[in-house]
Amino acid sequence: MVESYTRGQKILHWLLAVLVLFWLLVSGQIAASSEGEQKGMILMFHSGGALIIFALMMWRYSKRRKNLVMPLAELKSWEQSWSRKVHVSFYVLVTLMAITGILQGVFFDQAVRVFGAINITVGHNESLMSTFNLLHNVVSKIFLALIALHVLAALKHQFVDKLPFIKRMT
Ligand code: HEM
Ligand code: HEM
Repeated sequence: MVESYTRGQKILHWLLAVLVLFWLLVSGQIAASSEGEQKGMILMFHSGGALIIFALMMWRYSKRRKNLVMPLAELKSWEQSWSRKVHVSFYVLVTLMAITGILQGVFFDQAVRVFGAINITVGHNESLMSTFNLLHNVVSKIFLALIALHVLAALKHQFVDKLPFIKRMT
């Protein structure tokens, strides 16, 4: 284990923080609330962008495996163990969002064209579409709750405990 993140890991952390939050809070909400032809256009952007996010997260995961950073020594042992669990869960949650999104698209009630080019819709099936829609929605809420916890923990360690915590990622 090493003591600091590489420049590449830091850049990917902030780039993906912005992209993931935008997909959870903006792109997904617009996709869910739009209708008809407009929805088709929005889903091209939502699904294509999401697959780029997934690819970037997997690239980042391989960087993480090659350069595993040890937790800040000042943290209590339960904090060290939970922060690792939450970090790993982010990679799992992006994967689950991509899988449930794709499966929802496969059974969707209109063609889902990734990047406007690849039509992933095989045929409409109301109950399967609703099931994967619900899972996509529930996973997104769990993701948002854990991000809130992650940000609050980072702010607490930085400003209340006065540890050089956010500095590790900048
Ligand atoms: C990083 C990955 C992804 C994130 C963070 C994400 C996020 C979201 C969110 C938050 C919603 C709103 C859910 C709701 O309120 O019901 C949504 C809707 C949707 N997503 Fe994703 N998504 C991702 C990947 C994908 C992928 C890969 C596809 C398809 C290939 C997809 C297809 C859809 C569709 C079809 C909807 C609209 C559902 C509806 O009409 O209610 N998503 N997404
Ligand atoms: C926007 C507010 C955010 C802040 C202030 C923040 C802060 C931090 C800090 C300080 C670390 C280093 C923790 C340590 O070394 O123990 C870290 C790591 C990490 N953060 Fe964030 N973060 C934010 C958003 C996000 C979001 C939205 C994600 C979701 C993708 C995320 C995913 C991760 C992951 C996976 C790690 C572990 C290191 C790695 O695998 O690259 N962060 N974050």
